[in-house]
Amino acid sequence: MTPKKKTTPNTKIKSSRTKKTVAKKIEKKVVKKPIKKKIEKKNAVIKTEIKEVSASDIRVSKIKTPALLRGMKDVLPKDQYFWKKMYHTAEDICDAYGYEYIETPVLEDASLFIRSIGRGTDVVDKEMYVFEDKDGSKVGMRPEFTAGIARSFVGHGMISLPQPVKVWCWGQLFRHDRPQAGRYRQFHSFGCENFGVHDPAIDAETISVAYNFLLDLGIKTNIFINSIGTSDDRQNYIVELVGYLRTKRSYLCEKCRKRISKNPLRVLDCKEESCQAVIEEAPQIIDWLSEDSKNYFMRVLEYLDEMEIPYVLKPTLVRGLDYYTETVYEIYTEESEEGSQDALGGGGRYDLLVEKLGGQPTPACGFGIGLERVILTWRKQIEEGNIKQEEIVSKIFLAQLGEQARMKSLRIIEDLRREGVIVGHNLGKTALKTQLELANKQKCAYSIILGQKEVQDKTIIIRDMESGIQEIVDQKKLKTELDKKLKK
Ligand code: HAM
Repeated sequence: MTPKKKTTPNTKIKSSRTKKTVAKKIEKKVVKKPIKKKIEKKNAVIKTEIKEVSASDIRVSKIKTPALLRGMKDVLPKDQYFWKKMYHTAEDICDAYGYEYIETPVLEDASLFIRSIGRGTDVVDKEMYVFEDKDGSKVGMRPEFTAGIARSFVGHGMISLPQPVKVWCWGQLFRHDRPQAGRYRQFHSFGCENFGVHDPAIDAETISVAYNFLLDLGIKTNIFINSIGTSDDRQNYIVELVGYLRTKRSYLCEKCRKRISKNPLRVLDCKEESCQAVIEEAPQIIDWLSEDSKNYFMRVLEYLDEMEIPYVLKPTLVRGLDYYTETVYEIYTEESEEGSQDALGGGGRYDLLVEKLGGQPTPACGFGIGLERVILTWRKQIEEGNIKQEEIVSKIFLAQLGEQARMKSLRIIEDLRREGVIVGHNLGKTALKTQLELANKQKCAYSIILGQKEVQDKTIIIRDMESGIQEIVDQKKLKTELDKKLKK
Protein backbone atom coordinates (compact mmCIF):
# COMPACT_ATOMS: atom_id res chain seq x y z
CA MET A 1 0.00 0.00 0.00
CA THR A 2 1.38 3.40 -0.87
CA PRO A 3 1.49 5.78 2.10
CA LYS A 4 -0.95 8.69 2.06
CA LYS A 5 0.58 11.97 0.97
CA LYS A 6 0.87 14.63 3.68
CA THR A 7 -1.09 17.80 3.07
CA THR A 8 1.79 20.20 3.63
CA PRO A 9 1.52 23.54 1.80
CA ASN A 10 2.80 23.18 -1.72
CA THR A 11 5.27 26.00 -2.15
CA LYS A 12 6.07 25.21 -5.78
CA ILE A 13 3.34 27.04 -7.67
CA LYS A 14 3.35 26.32 -11.39
CA SER A 15 3.46 29.51 -13.43
CA SER A 16 0.43 28.48 -15.59
CA ARG A 17 -1.89 28.57 -12.60
CA THR A 18 -3.87 31.71 -12.13
CA LYS A 19 -3.94 33.53 -8.81
CA LYS A 20 -7.54 32.37 -8.30
CA THR A 21 -6.64 28.70 -8.65
CA VAL A 22 -3.80 29.16 -6.23
CA ALA A 23 -6.08 30.84 -3.68
CA LYS A 24 -8.63 28.02 -4.02
CA LYS A 25 -5.91 25.45 -3.71
CA ILE A 26 -4.62 27.01 -0.50
CA GLU A 27 -8.14 27.18 0.93
CA LYS A 28 -8.93 23.58 0.03
CA LYS A 29 -5.68 21.85 0.74
CA VAL A 30 -3.87 23.79 3.39
CA VAL A 31 -6.57 25.14 5.67
CA LYS A 32 -8.28 22.05 6.97
CA LYS A 33 -11.92 22.50 8.02
CA PRO A 34 -11.55 22.44 11.86
CA ILE A 35 -8.63 24.88 11.62
CA LYS A 36 -10.65 27.09 9.27
CA LYS A 37 -13.45 27.30 11.82
CA LYS A 38 -11.01 28.18 14.56
CA ILE A 39 -9.47 30.97 12.45
CA GLU A 40 -12.93 32.38 11.59
CA LYS A 41 -13.83 32.44 15.30
CA LYS A 42 -10.59 34.16 16.20
CA ASN A 43 -11.01 36.73 13.43
CA ALA A 44 -14.51 37.55 14.69
CA VAL A 45 -13.14 38.24 18.18
CA ILE A 46 -10.40 40.46 16.78
CA LYS A 47 -12.93 42.40 14.66
CA THR A 48 -15.08 43.20 17.73
CA GLU A 49 -11.98 44.23 19.67
CA ILE A 50 -10.90 46.56 16.87
CA LYS A 51 -14.37 48.17 16.83
CA GLU A 52 -14.02 48.92 20.53
CA VAL A 53 -10.78 50.87 20.00
CA SER A 54 -11.75 54.48 19.36
CA ALA A 55 -10.52 56.23 16.24
CA SER A 56 -8.31 58.57 18.28
CA ASP A 57 -6.42 55.61 19.75
CA ILE A 58 -5.48 54.39 16.30
CA ARG A 59 -4.35 57.78 15.00
CA VAL A 60 -0.58 58.26 15.34
CA SER A 61 0.08 61.21 17.57
CA LYS A 62 3.18 63.21 16.60
CA ILE A 63 5.83 63.59 19.26
CA LYS A 64 9.23 65.24 19.31
CA THR A 65 11.81 62.63 18.25
CA PRO A 66 13.52 61.37 21.40
CA ALA A 67 17.10 62.62 21.48
CA LEU A 68 20.14 60.37 21.63
CA LEU A 69 21.42 60.09 25.20
CA ARG A 70 24.45 62.23 26.00
CA GLY A 71 27.69 60.46 25.21
CA MET A 72 25.99 57.76 23.09
CA LYS A 73 26.59 57.42 19.35
CA ASP A 74 24.93 55.58 16.48
CA VAL A 75 27.17 53.48 14.29
CA LEU A 76 26.03 54.65 10.86
CA PRO A 77 26.14 52.92 7.46
CA LYS A 78 28.38 55.72 6.16
CA ASP A 79 31.10 54.44 8.49
CA GLN A 80 30.74 50.78 7.58
CA TYR A 81 34.08 50.77 5.79
CA PHE A 82 35.90 51.51 9.07
CA TRP A 83 33.95 49.10 11.25
CA LYS A 84 34.16 46.21 8.81
CA LYS A 85 37.83 46.72 8.15
CA MET A 86 38.63 46.93 11.88
CA TYR A 87 36.66 43.78 12.65
CA HIS A 88 38.23 41.76 9.85
CA THR A 89 41.70 42.99 10.76
CA ALA A 90 41.12 42.00 14.40
CA GLU A 91 39.79 38.61 13.35
CA ASP A 92 42.73 37.96 11.00
CA ILE A 93 45.43 38.96 13.45
CA CYS A 94 43.80 36.95 16.29
CA ASP A 95 43.55 33.88 14.05
CA ALA A 96 47.21 34.26 13.14
CA TYR A 97 48.31 34.53 16.79
CA GLY A 98 45.95 31.81 18.02
CA TYR A 99 43.48 33.93 20.02
CA GLU A 100 39.94 32.53 20.19
CA TYR A 101 36.78 34.65 20.40
CA ILE A 102 35.02 35.12 23.73
CA GLU A 103 31.93 37.15 24.61
CA THR A 104 30.83 37.97 28.13
CA PRO A 105 27.56 39.69 29.15
CA VAL A 106 27.12 43.45 29.17
CA LEU A 107 25.54 43.18 32.62
CA GLU A 108 27.44 41.59 35.49
CA ASP A 109 27.25 41.62 39.27
CA ALA A 110 28.57 45.12 40.10
CA SER A 111 30.91 43.68 42.73
CA LEU A 112 32.90 41.93 39.97
CA PHE A 113 34.04 45.27 38.55
CA ILE A 114 34.43 46.97 41.94
CA ARG A 115 36.62 44.13 43.21
CA SER A 116 38.68 43.88 40.01
CA ILE A 117 39.18 47.50 38.99
CA GLY A 118 39.24 48.80 42.57
CA ARG A 119 37.59 51.48 44.66
CA GLY A 120 39.35 54.82 44.32
CA THR A 121 39.70 54.44 40.54
CA ASP A 122 37.79 56.85 38.31
CA VAL A 123 36.14 53.94 36.53
CA VAL A 124 34.57 52.54 39.72
CA ASP A 125 34.03 55.76 41.67
CA LYS A 126 32.74 58.00 38.88
CA GLU A 127 32.14 56.22 35.62
CA MET A 128 30.45 52.91 36.21
CA TYR A 129 26.77 52.50 35.36
CA VAL A 130 25.44 50.71 38.44
CA PHE A 131 21.79 50.11 39.20
CA GLU A 132 19.48 47.94 41.20
CA ASP A 133 18.00 45.05 39.25
CA LYS A 134 14.34 44.03 39.72
CA ASP A 135 15.38 41.49 42.39
CA GLY A 136 17.23 44.16 44.36
CA SER A 137 20.73 43.00 43.36
CA LYS A 138 23.31 45.55 42.25
CA VAL A 139 24.35 45.15 38.64
CA GLY A 140 26.93 47.03 36.59
CA MET A 141 27.24 47.60 32.84
CA ARG A 142 30.71 46.43 31.83
CA PRO A 143 33.15 49.37 31.77
CA GLU A 144 35.86 47.04 30.40
CA PHE A 145 36.29 43.41 29.35
CA THR A 146 39.11 42.07 31.52
CA ALA A 147 37.11 41.52 34.73
CA GLY A 148 34.28 39.66 32.95
CA ILE A 149 36.72 37.49 31.01
CA ALA A 150 38.68 36.64 34.18
CA ARG A 151 35.36 35.67 35.83
CA SER A 152 34.57 33.49 32.85
CA PHE A 153 38.06 31.91 32.98
CA VAL A 154 37.45 30.87 36.60
CA GLY A 155 33.78 29.92 36.16
CA HIS A 156 34.41 27.68 33.15
CA GLY A 157 37.44 25.97 34.68
CA MET A 158 39.71 27.17 31.87
CA ILE A 159 42.67 26.55 34.17
CA SER A 160 42.41 22.88 33.15
CA LEU A 161 42.92 23.76 29.47
CA PRO A 162 46.42 23.81 27.95
CA GLN A 163 47.99 27.17 28.95
CA PRO A 164 48.18 29.84 27.81
CA VAL A 165 44.47 30.33 27.19
CA LYS A 166 44.31 33.07 24.57
CA VAL A 167 41.07 34.94 23.93
CA TRP A 168 39.94 38.05 22.08
CA CYS A 169 36.84 40.16 22.51
CA TRP A 170 34.93 42.88 20.71
CA GLY A 171 31.94 44.96 21.76
CA GLN A 172 30.42 47.89 23.61
CA LEU A 173 31.66 49.22 26.93
CA PHE A 174 29.99 51.82 29.16
CA ARG A 175 31.59 54.58 31.18
CA HIS A 176 29.75 57.62 32.49
CA ASP A 177 32.58 59.91 31.43
CA ARG A 178 32.36 63.61 30.53
CA PRO A 179 31.62 63.35 26.79
CA GLN A 180 34.05 65.00 24.36
CA ALA A 181 35.81 64.00 21.12
CA GLY A 182 37.11 60.46 21.61
CA ARG A 183 35.42 60.09 25.00
CA TYR A 184 31.93 58.62 25.06
CA ARG A 185 29.59 56.93 27.50
CA GLN A 186 29.16 53.98 25.19
CA PHE A 187 32.18 53.02 23.14
CA HIS A 188 33.53 49.96 21.35
CA SER A 189 36.66 48.09 22.18
CA PHE A 190 38.76 45.25 20.80
CA GLY A 191 40.95 43.39 23.26
CA CYS A 192 43.04 40.29 23.82
CA GLU A 193 43.70 38.44 27.07
CA ASN A 194 46.36 35.78 27.61
CA PHE A 195 46.06 33.58 30.73
CA GLY A 196 48.38 31.09 32.40
CA VAL A 197 51.98 32.03 31.59
CA HIS A 198 54.34 34.48 33.31
CA ASP A 199 57.00 35.18 30.72
CA PRO A 200 58.23 38.39 29.03
CA ALA A 201 57.59 36.73 25.65
CA ILE A 202 53.86 36.71 26.43
CA ASP A 203 53.83 40.42 27.40
CA ALA A 204 55.66 41.13 24.14
CA GLU A 205 53.26 38.98 22.14
CA THR A 206 50.18 40.87 23.35
CA ILE A 207 51.90 44.22 22.72
CA SER A 208 52.79 43.00 19.23
CA VAL A 209 49.15 42.05 18.47
CA ALA A 210 47.91 45.49 19.58
CA TYR A 211 50.67 47.35 17.73
CA ASN A 212 50.29 45.35 14.51
CA PHE A 213 46.48 45.55 14.54
CA LEU A 214 46.84 49.33 14.32
CA LEU A 215 49.72 49.11 11.84
CA ASP A 216 47.61 46.87 9.57
CA LEU A 217 45.04 49.70 9.50
CA GLY A 218 47.82 52.08 8.49
CA ILE A 219 48.15 53.73 11.91
CA LYS A 220 51.69 54.08 13.23
CA THR A 221 51.98 54.20 17.01
CA ASN A 222 54.35 54.53 19.95
CA ILE A 223 54.07 52.41 23.07
CA PHE A 224 54.46 54.30 26.36
CA ILE A 225 55.64 51.65 28.78
CA ASN A 226 56.56 51.14 32.43
CA SER A 227 56.75 48.46 35.08
CA ILE A 228 54.93 48.83 38.40
CA GLY A 229 56.56 45.66 39.80
CA THR A 230 55.02 43.00 42.01
CA SER A 231 52.71 43.90 44.88
CA ASP A 232 55.69 43.49 47.28
CA ASP A 233 57.74 45.99 45.23
CA ARG A 234 54.83 48.38 45.34
CA GLN A 235 54.38 48.23 49.14
CA ASN A 236 57.81 49.81 49.70
CA TYR A 237 57.28 52.32 46.92
CA ILE A 238 53.89 53.38 48.26
CA VAL A 239 55.42 54.24 51.67
CA GLU A 240 57.89 56.53 49.86
CA LEU A 241 55.19 57.98 47.59
CA VAL A 242 52.80 58.81 50.45
CA GLY A 243 55.64 60.60 52.31
CA TYR A 244 56.33 62.68 49.19
CA LEU A 245 52.67 63.44 48.44
CA ARG A 246 52.03 64.65 51.99
CA THR A 247 54.71 67.32 51.50
CA LYS A 248 52.96 68.46 48.29
CA ARG A 249 49.38 68.22 49.60
CA SER A 250 48.53 71.87 49.04
CA TYR A 251 49.35 71.65 45.31
CA LEU A 252 47.08 68.69 44.67
CA CYS A 253 43.46 68.70 43.50
CA GLU A 254 40.83 67.87 46.09
CA LYS A 255 40.41 64.31 44.88
CA CYS A 256 44.12 63.60 45.01
CA ARG A 257 44.31 64.88 48.57
CA LYS A 258 41.82 62.19 49.50
CA ARG A 259 43.70 59.66 47.38
CA ILE A 260 46.90 60.05 49.43
CA SER A 261 45.49 57.86 52.18
CA LYS A 262 42.96 55.84 50.15
CA ASN A 263 44.79 54.87 46.94
CA PRO A 264 48.00 56.92 46.49
CA LEU A 265 49.04 55.28 43.18
CA ARG A 266 45.97 56.84 41.55
CA VAL A 267 47.46 60.30 42.12
CA LEU A 268 50.01 59.39 39.43
CA ASP A 269 47.14 58.78 37.03
CA CYS A 270 45.36 62.09 37.72
CA LYS A 271 44.68 64.21 34.64
CA GLU A 272 44.14 67.52 36.53
CA GLU A 273 46.62 70.14 35.44
CA SER A 274 47.34 71.27 39.00
CA CYS A 275 48.67 67.81 39.85
CA GLN A 276 50.99 67.40 36.86
CA ALA A 277 54.04 69.16 38.36
CA VAL A 278 53.74 67.09 41.55
CA ILE A 279 53.48 63.87 39.52
CA GLU A 280 56.56 64.73 37.47
CA GLU A 281 58.70 65.24 40.56
CA ALA A 282 57.38 62.14 42.36
CA PRO A 283 59.69 59.24 43.25
CA GLN A 284 59.78 56.80 40.34
CA ILE A 285 58.44 53.32 40.83
CA ILE A 286 61.15 51.82 38.62
CA ASP A 287 63.73 52.64 41.34
CA TRP A 288 61.80 50.44 43.78
CA LEU A 289 61.58 47.33 41.66
CA SER A 290 63.23 44.11 42.83
CA GLU A 291 66.03 42.69 40.68
CA ASP A 292 63.63 40.03 39.36
CA SER A 293 61.06 42.63 38.29
CA LYS A 294 63.75 44.81 36.71
CA ASN A 295 65.14 41.86 34.74
CA TYR A 296 61.66 40.84 33.68
CA PHE A 297 60.96 44.33 32.38
CA MET A 298 64.30 44.51 30.57
CA ARG A 299 63.47 41.26 28.78
CA VAL A 300 60.08 42.66 27.65
CA LEU A 301 61.90 45.69 26.21
CA GLU A 302 64.46 43.43 24.47
CA TYR A 303 61.59 41.63 22.74
CA LEU A 304 60.16 44.96 21.58
CA ASP A 305 63.61 45.98 20.27
CA GLU A 306 63.87 42.70 18.41
CA MET A 307 60.45 43.29 16.80
CA GLU A 308 61.31 46.95 16.14
CA ILE A 309 58.23 48.11 17.99
CA PRO A 310 58.84 51.74 19.01
CA TYR A 311 58.41 52.52 22.72
CA VAL A 312 58.97 55.35 25.17
CA LEU A 313 59.78 54.63 28.82
CA LYS A 314 57.31 56.54 30.98
CA PRO A 315 58.17 56.21 34.69
CA THR A 316 54.94 57.86 35.91
CA LEU A 317 52.67 55.50 33.96
CA VAL A 318 50.63 53.36 36.39
CA ARG A 319 47.30 52.97 34.48
CA GLY A 320 43.90 53.78 35.92
CA LEU A 321 42.87 50.27 37.00
CA ASP A 322 44.03 48.56 40.19
CA TYR A 323 44.63 45.03 38.94
CA TYR A 324 47.94 45.60 37.17
CA THR A 325 51.29 44.10 38.17
CA GLU A 326 54.65 44.59 36.41
CA THR A 327 54.37 45.60 32.73
CA VAL A 328 51.91 48.40 31.93
CA TYR A 329 51.60 50.33 28.67
CA GLU A 330 49.50 52.75 26.67
CA ILE A 331 49.40 53.13 22.90
CA TYR A 332 49.48 56.57 21.27
CA THR A 333 49.74 57.70 17.67
CA GLU A 334 53.26 58.49 16.48
CA GLU A 335 52.52 62.22 16.60
CA SER A 336 50.96 62.23 20.10
CA GLU A 337 52.84 64.21 22.67
CA GLU A 338 53.76 62.83 26.05
CA GLY A 339 50.97 63.58 28.50
CA SER A 340 48.28 63.34 25.83
CA GLN A 341 45.10 61.90 27.31
CA ASP A 342 43.73 60.16 24.28
CA ALA A 343 45.40 56.79 24.28
CA LEU A 344 44.25 54.52 21.47
CA GLY A 345 44.72 51.57 23.77
CA GLY A 346 46.26 50.30 26.95
CA GLY A 347 47.09 47.12 28.72
CA GLY A 348 49.48 45.19 30.86
CA ARG A 349 50.03 42.24 33.16
CA TYR A 350 47.54 41.37 35.89
CA ASP A 351 48.92 38.32 37.68
CA LEU A 352 46.70 38.52 40.78
CA LEU A 353 43.24 39.14 39.31
CA VAL A 354 42.16 35.54 38.67
CA GLU A 355 43.07 34.58 42.24
CA LYS A 356 41.29 37.66 43.57
CA LEU A 357 38.14 36.42 41.83
CA GLY A 358 38.34 33.03 43.52
CA GLY A 359 40.43 31.15 40.94
CA GLN A 360 43.78 29.43 41.26
CA PRO A 361 46.86 31.69 40.99
CA THR A 362 47.03 32.44 37.23
CA PRO A 363 49.34 34.99 35.64
CA ALA A 364 47.73 36.95 32.81
CA CYS A 365 48.15 39.95 30.55
CA GLY A 366 46.29 41.71 27.76
CA PHE A 367 45.18 44.96 26.20
CA GLY A 368 42.11 46.95 25.14
CA ILE A 369 41.84 49.35 22.20
CA GLY A 370 39.19 52.09 21.92
CA LEU A 371 37.73 51.77 18.43
CA GLU A 372 36.04 55.19 18.15
CA ARG A 373 39.44 56.74 18.85
CA VAL A 374 40.97 54.54 16.16
CA ILE A 375 38.38 55.81 13.65
CA LEU A 376 39.04 59.45 14.64
CA THR A 377 42.78 58.97 14.06
CA TRP A 378 42.23 57.01 10.88
CA ARG A 379 39.90 59.64 9.40
CA LYS A 380 42.38 62.39 10.23
CA GLN A 381 45.17 60.44 8.54
CA ILE A 382 43.00 59.88 5.45
CA GLU A 383 42.23 63.63 5.32
CA GLU A 384 45.93 64.41 5.58
CA GLY A 385 46.65 61.96 2.78
CA ASN A 386 48.75 59.61 4.95
CA ILE A 387 46.36 56.67 4.49
CA LYS A 388 44.42 55.77 1.37
CA GLN A 389 40.85 54.57 1.88
CA GLU A 390 40.18 51.49 -0.21
CA GLU A 391 37.03 51.68 -2.31
CA ILE A 392 34.42 48.98 -1.92
CA VAL A 393 33.20 48.36 -5.46
CA SER A 394 31.11 45.65 -6.99
CA LYS A 395 32.35 45.17 -10.53
CA ILE A 396 28.96 44.09 -11.87
CA PHE A 397 25.63 45.92 -11.77
CA LEU A 398 22.29 44.34 -12.61
CA ALA A 399 19.73 46.57 -14.34
CA GLN A 400 16.19 45.31 -14.93
CA LEU A 401 13.35 46.49 -17.15
CA GLY A 402 9.76 45.43 -16.56
CA GLU A 403 7.93 43.44 -13.92
CA GLN A 404 8.97 39.98 -15.14
CA ALA A 405 12.60 40.94 -15.35
CA ARG A 406 12.53 42.43 -11.88
CA MET A 407 11.09 39.19 -10.51
CA LYS A 408 13.86 37.17 -12.13
CA SER A 409 16.58 39.59 -10.94
CA LEU A 410 16.80 38.50 -7.33
CA ARG A 411 17.32 34.91 -8.46
CA ILE A 412 20.20 35.94 -10.73
CA ILE A 413 21.75 38.13 -8.00
CA GLU A 414 21.59 35.23 -5.53
CA ASP A 415 22.90 32.63 -8.02
CA LEU A 416 25.88 34.87 -8.81
CA ARG A 417 26.50 35.57 -5.11
CA ARG A 418 26.67 31.83 -4.47
CA GLU A 419 29.35 31.65 -7.14
CA GLY A 420 31.31 34.48 -5.55
CA VAL A 421 30.20 37.41 -7.75
CA ILE A 422 28.78 40.40 -5.87
CA VAL A 423 26.21 42.26 -7.96
CA GLY A 424 25.26 45.89 -7.35
CA HIS A 425 21.56 46.63 -7.95
CA ASN A 426 18.65 48.87 -7.05
CA LEU A 427 15.32 47.12 -7.41
CA GLY A 428 13.58 50.33 -6.35
CA LYS A 429 14.40 51.92 -9.69
CA THR A 430 12.68 51.07 -12.96
CA ALA A 431 14.21 53.40 -15.57
CA LEU A 432 17.20 51.88 -17.35
CA LYS A 433 18.97 55.24 -17.60
CA THR A 434 18.86 55.78 -13.83
CA GLN A 435 20.14 52.27 -13.18
CA LEU A 436 23.05 52.65 -15.59
CA GLU A 437 23.92 55.97 -13.95
CA LEU A 438 24.06 54.14 -10.63
CA ALA A 439 26.32 51.51 -12.19
CA ASN A 440 28.68 54.28 -13.30
CA LYS A 441 28.57 55.91 -9.87
CA GLN A 442 29.51 52.59 -8.29
CA LYS A 443 32.36 52.32 -10.82
CA CYS A 444 31.09 48.97 -12.14
CA ALA A 445 33.05 47.64 -15.09
CA TYR A 446 30.02 45.78 -16.50
CA SER A 447 26.26 45.93 -16.24
CA ILE A 448 24.05 42.94 -16.90
CA ILE A 449 20.70 44.01 -18.33
CA LEU A 450 17.54 41.96 -18.15
CA GLY A 451 14.40 42.98 -20.06
CA GLN A 452 11.16 41.15 -20.88
CA LYS A 453 12.61 39.71 -24.10
CA GLU A 454 15.69 38.38 -22.29
CA VAL A 455 13.49 36.75 -19.63
CA GLN A 456 11.55 34.92 -22.37
CA ASP A 457 14.69 33.96 -24.35
CA LYS A 458 16.57 33.03 -21.17
CA THR A 459 19.36 35.38 -22.22
CA ILE A 460 20.91 38.47 -20.66
CA ILE A 461 22.82 41.48 -21.99
CA ILE A 462 26.34 42.21 -20.80
CA ARG A 463 27.26 45.87 -21.26
CA ASP A 464 30.82 47.13 -21.06
CA MET A 465 30.34 50.33 -19.08
CA GLU A 466 33.37 52.06 -20.54
CA SER A 467 32.88 51.36 -24.27
CA GLY A 468 29.10 50.90 -24.16
CA ILE A 469 29.46 47.70 -26.26
CA GLN A 470 26.70 45.19 -25.50
CA GLU A 471 26.59 41.45 -26.01
CA ILE A 472 23.73 38.98 -25.53
CA VAL A 473 24.61 35.76 -23.74
CA ASP A 474 22.72 32.69 -22.58
CA GLN A 475 21.79 33.08 -18.89
CA LYS A 476 23.35 29.69 -18.19
CA LYS A 477 26.69 30.94 -19.49
CA LEU A 478 26.55 34.26 -17.61
CA LYS A 479 29.04 33.34 -14.89
CA THR A 480 31.58 31.94 -17.38
CA GLU A 481 31.27 35.02 -19.60
CA LEU A 482 31.64 37.40 -16.65
CA ASP A 483 34.69 35.46 -15.41
CA LYS A 484 36.30 35.80 -18.82
CA LYS A 485 35.64 39.54 -18.91
CA LEU A 486 36.71 40.23 -15.34
CA LYS A 487 39.97 38.32 -15.88
CA LYS A 488 40.81 40.64 -18.76
P1 HAM B 1 41.58 51.27 29.45
O1 HAM B 1 42.85 52.00 29.25
O2 HAM B 1 40.72 51.69 30.58
O3 HAM B 1 41.99 49.74 29.62
O4 HAM B 1 40.70 51.30 28.12
C1 HAM B 1 41.24 50.87 26.91
C2 HAM B 1 40.96 51.88 25.81
O5 HAM B 1 39.58 52.13 25.72
C3 HAM B 1 41.55 53.27 26.06
O6 HAM B 1 42.90 53.34 25.71
C4 HAM B 1 40.69 54.12 25.13
O7 HAM B 1 41.14 54.05 23.80
C5 HAM B 1 39.35 53.42 25.21
N1 HAM B 1 38.44 54.19 26.09
C6 HAM B 1 38.42 54.21 27.43
N2 HAM B 1 37.44 55.01 27.88
C7 HAM B 1 36.82 55.51 26.79
C8 HAM B 1 35.71 56.39 26.58
N3 HAM B 1 35.02 56.91 27.58
N4 HAM B 1 35.35 56.68 25.30
C9 HAM B 1 36.01 56.15 24.25
N5 HAM B 1 37.05 55.30 24.39
C10 HAM B 1 37.46 54.99 25.64
C11 HAM B 1 41.11 48.74 29.85
O8 HAM B 1 39.92 48.84 29.75
C12 HAM B 1 41.77 47.42 30.19
N6 HAM B 1 40.71 46.44 30.44
C13 HAM B 1 42.68 46.97 29.08
C14 HAM B 1 43.35 45.68 29.41
C15 HAM B 1 43.02 44.46 28.90
N7 HAM B 1 44.31 45.50 30.29
C16 HAM B 1 44.62 44.20 30.33
N8 HAM B 1 43.85 43.57 29.51
